[in-house]
Order: sequence, then C-alpha cells, then structure tokens
Amino acid sequence: MNSPQTPDRRPIRALADTLISQIAAGEVVERPASVVKELLENAIDSGATQIELQIDEGGVRRVAVSDDGCGIPADELALALTRHATSKIDSLAELERVGTLGFRGEALASIASVARVRITSRTGDAEHACVIDSLDGQIAPAAGTRGTTVEVHELYSHTPARRKFLKSQGTETAHCVDALRRVALAHPQIAFSLRIDGRRTEQMSRGSWQARALAGLGDDYSDAHRIIDSGSAGLSLAGLLGLPTVNRARADRQFVYVNGRFVRDRLLSHAVRQAYSDVLHGDRHPAYVLFLRIDPALVDVNVHPAKVEVRFRDSQAVHRLVFHTVRDALRATATGHPVLAGTGPGQQAIQPDWAGAGAAASPASLQPGPIAFPAAQRQLPIASAGPGGPRFTPSAAMAFYAPDPALNPPTVRDGDPGSDYAARDASPQTSEIPPLGYAIAQLHGIYILAQNATGLVLVDMHAAHERVVYERLKRALDAREIARQPLLIPATFRAEALEASLVEESAETLAALGLELSLIGPTAIAVRAVPAELASADAAALARSVLAELREAGSARALTERRDALLASMACHAAVRANRRLSLPEMNALLREMETTAGADQCNHGRPTWVQVSLQELDRWFLRGR
Ligand SMILES: Nc1ncnc2c1ncn2[C@@H]1O[C@H](COP(=O)(O)OP(=O)(O)OP(=O)(O)O)[C@@H](O)[C@H]1O
Ligand SMILES: [Mg+2]
Repeated sequence: MNSPQTPDRRPIRALADTLISQIAAGEVVERPASVVKELLENAIDSGATQIELQIDEGGVRRVAVSDDGCGIPADELALALTRHATSKIDSLAELERVGTLGFRGEALASIASVARVRITSRTGDAEHACVIDSLDGQIAPAAGTRGTTVEVHELYSHTPARRKFLKSQGTETAHCVDALRRVALAHPQIAFSLRIDGRRTEQMSRGSWQARALAGLGDDYSDAHRIIDSGSAGLSLAGLLGLPTVNRARADRQFVYVNGRFVRDRLLSHAVRQAYSDVLHGDRHPAYVLFLRIDPALVDVNVHPAKVEVRFRDSQAVHRLVFHTVRDALRATATGHPVLAGTGPGQQAIQPDWAGAGAAASPASLQPGPIAFPAAQRQLPIASAGPGGPRFTPSAAMAFYAPDPALNPPTVRDGDPGSDYAARDASPQTSEIPPLGYAIAQLHGIYILAQNATGLVLVDMHAAHERVVYERLKRALDAREIARQPLLIPATFRAEALEASLVEESAETLAALGLELSLIGPTAIAVRAVPAELASADAAALARSVLAELREAGSARALTERRDALLASMACHAAVRANRRLSLPEMNALLREMETTAGADQCNHGRPTWVQVSLQELDRWFLRGR
C-alpha cells in the first residue's frame, strides 16, 4: 500500500555516462575559475613553456587555454573527452607516486558535460593539427602549431539552475584571475599571459621563483619579506614570508603548494599560523608563499574532488618542519640569527629543482630604498633580499652595517651558525659598532635615536621594550621560574564577582605567572606580589588584565593555548611608557638587549620596533651628492 507521500519505487539502474559526468562536474566544475584551473593544469602537465588564458564574460561565455606543450595525437582526441581516460597514470603504484597535476582523467569529460568543448591540438611529429568538438564528437583537420588549445563555450548552458548560482561577471573574472595566479606562482619556468574580453591584461615572463612569488604577494612586500629554504631531499620547504609588519585584514595572500600543487591544508596553515602567532597577535593575517616538496610516496593527493587537500603519511614531521622553518626565519634578529645561512652573498638564490631554469639572480642592491618611515619600509638586508637577490646571511648583514658597503665587499666566513654573535664578531671592521648602534638622544619621549655604521636608527621605545620583556617572561615561564616580588604595600582594586572568584580558583596559574592575589572582600582584591620583571608596572592594572585574560580563556587553557597573548598583555603593562625619560645607558641597554632577543624586530602586534635611515638617504633628503 502506497501512502500519498511515498513515490513509486523505481528499479535500480546504472546511470547514463553523461549524467555521471554531470554529477561529477558538480564537484569538479564549481564555477568558471574551476575550468581555468583544470585547463591550466593540463597545459602544465603537457610540458608547456608558454600558456595563454582567455576569459570572456566572466568565463561563462568562453574560457580558452593555449599551450605549446606535447599535444594530443589525433587518434586520442576522442579519448581526452572520455571519462576515466588519462595518459598520466596506468596503475595504483603510479597513482601513489603521481607527479603530474592531473591523474583522474575526469576534468575534460566533466567540463564537456556542462559546456561545449573544442580541443585543437598538434603533436610534434604530426603534419597538421586536428580539432574535436564535443557537440558531435567529430574530428577534423585544422590549422595550428605544436601544442593544444582547449576552448570551453557557454558554461552551464544546459544546466541553467547552476548558472543562476554564479556571481557577477566581474566577480567570476576575478576568481579566474586568482586561479591563474595560484597556478602561475608555482610555475615560474612557464610564461603566462592573460586576455580578458579580448584585452591583454597580464603578462608574466619566465623568471626565478622568488620573483614570481613576490609578484604574487604584491608591491607591499618587495622589501618586507624573508626567503626561506630548508629541509632535505625527501622533505623540504622553500618560500617567501611576508614580514608581520605588513599584515592584512584578510587571509587572501596565503599560497601553499605541495609538490607544485596549490592546496588548502589545515595542517600546513595551522603550522604557519602558529609560527606567526608569536609576532602577529590578534585578527591580522600574514602573507606568504610556501612550497613544500615531499617524496610523492609520502603524501596522498587523492583525497579531495578538486585535489586541493592532501594527506601526509607523517604529518608530524611536516608540521615540525613548517613551524620551525617559518618561526626561525621570522625570529631572526637585527644581528641576524643565521637561520638562512648556507650561501654566501655572491651566490645566486637557490632554485628548487622543480622551479625550472629561471633567470639568474642578480646581486642584491645594498642601496637603500625610499625613505624608511612608513612601517612597511624596513631597510634591512634580511627584509630586502629583492626578487632573485641573495639570501640573507650573517656576512650580508655585516656588509650592511659596514661603514661603506661599496668599499667593503662582504667577506664570506664560516662563523658558528648557532651563535647570535657570529655576525658581529666575524668582521674586524664592524666589531666596534653594534648593529643597532649607540643611543644619542630620545625624541618626544617616544623614540630612541641611535647612531650605527649605516646611519641613524630610530627605535619605538615602548614597542621594543615590550617585546624584550615579553620574550624574557616567556623564557621564565617555560622554565617555571618567574621570580616574584612581594609588594610592601599591597595594591587593591575592585573586580566583578566572576573575576574575584578566579583569585582562588586560579591561584596556581596566578602563582606560575608570578602573581599573588588575595580576596579582601567579596569583590575587593589585594595584589601582594608581582613578577619581579614587571615590578615597575601598575600592579592593580596588571592583575586586572591577567584576570580578564583568565576569564576569557579559562584558566586551564590560559597557560597553554593563550600563553603568548597572556604574556604579551602582561609585558605591555611593564613596558616603558611614552614620556618616560631614559638615560643614555638605559637606552643602550635596551638596544643591546634587542640585538639578542629573538623576534625583537617587531612588537607583539606585528609593528616594527625600529627602522634604519641610512646616511645615503639623509644625503638625499638634503640633496647632498657624495
Ligand atoms: N593541454 C593538453 N596538452 C596535452 N594533453 C592534454 C592536454 N589537456 C588534456 N590532455 C590529455 O587529455 C587527457 C585527459 O585530460 P583530463 O584533464 O580530462 O584528465 P587528466 O588531466 O588526465 O586528469 P584530471 O581529471 O585529474 O585532470 C590527459 O590525460 C592528457 O593526456
Ligand atoms: Mg587534467
């Protein structure tokens, strides 16, 4: 008996091939940008050196990709449009070691199920090109040089429901351009050009991976970045890290690649976020391009319909490598923790083997750039190894601090790469003047002015001190030895009931932080001891902010997950306030401490703590030719 709601049951039947493709297309071809991605990946797999992308009317009317790759033989053209037909793998063993971007043999068939596809292709030894049209499957001779052009017309014209989900033409075009950028970043050995509605809008010539990556991050990062390269043959990480001082409101410049494939991987982004968290708190986002290279047998790329997720066999090892490499590079101090040691300044930047033969790196210009006042314009060599420039080394830093770089070319020395002082001690010319120089004055109670070998150093006193105190607290907390200083006269304050209740509940956490609080009334609290490090702080304000943190994080998590934020807000209370007058020895002590404090180049909020203004720049201001 059928109830009115239950439809008649139909027998189980195999789905028609086109319908299968249309269902698959739902996952593979989400929008025009997905077509762009698939066609570009095919062009890359074909060994092309030049690829042109054309987008008409947001990609809905037409997407076309032309390459000069290996081409498809005429008798395989029909197969290229068939589901589960691929030239890229032949067995499970090959799938497990796949090195190409494609392997499912599904992209063109899926696209052809929701659009009209024309493929014109010619192999190296064919006498002429041939074209196939998905409308009728007919193959005909055509004009064309070696390579392939795939045109996709009228996307979703048979599935209007899908078409309705698309955004405006401008938005879809922007997504297509993003897709091109993501693919192009990982393939600097290929030249790309782009035409939107017939107009040429972008041209990327072949070059080094650094240059391509910098172009991807944008001009803001041309000086504010660090280049990393670390690991071994089976597992390595190269890339470009935007300095935390140039951060973004959105996470829109984060590019992560695994073996040349763009991925959105939670493990990798977690490792990077954690590495940046120390120098970039809160809701700002860093920019970076990272290329993880791993033995294909140790990563599964077949876990996501659009292949943007991967699974690592040893995810811990990957996390460790990414976290440590990124963190160490970001923590390089003014003295240059030699995290990137290994190549001399004269050597060209390392090309990962997969980056192809890019342009040779040019020697870095030690000439300072524009006036260094804007936060983004750090004038340090660690931050300014431009596209293709040499990687940062202690000796490069030394040269930068030498009286005249032109007269004192950097000498490559095998300093102890583990020592903070290697850079300074390695050269007799620079051993006298420390990197951040000697204090000469204080400006408006906010900035320290110091003179070093290059010229003038300006230090944001509060930000720098805060960072130094923060790092000291962190070390002390890790060693479980934050020293306590009892207050002769306890500081008292009133708190909300919820915070007052934490005084007893979280006594242990508070003790670990060097605080001793007691309740002297239902909502009145006395501060009896503070961390010795923070003895100069307003004890009540300090205690209040720690209680607020504990309340928000829960005291169990405060010392682990929220440790950095907690210590940062404590450090902020102790750091020298604006308008506090410092003596020269006090200022020099701060400068010396900055030089040996990891990550002291930026404050806890990602702003720079100091900038360099070189003599050349000063001369330029005064139009003084030297
Ligand atoms: N631009 C191209 N140059 C040369 N051959 C191509 C090109 N595009 C497609 N082909 C051939 O057509 C086949 C089918 O392409 P398709 O994109 O559908 O599958 P795939 O790349 O093998 O796998 P995936 O579905 O993972 O992308 C490829 O295996 C390749 O042999
Ligand atoms: Mg493909």
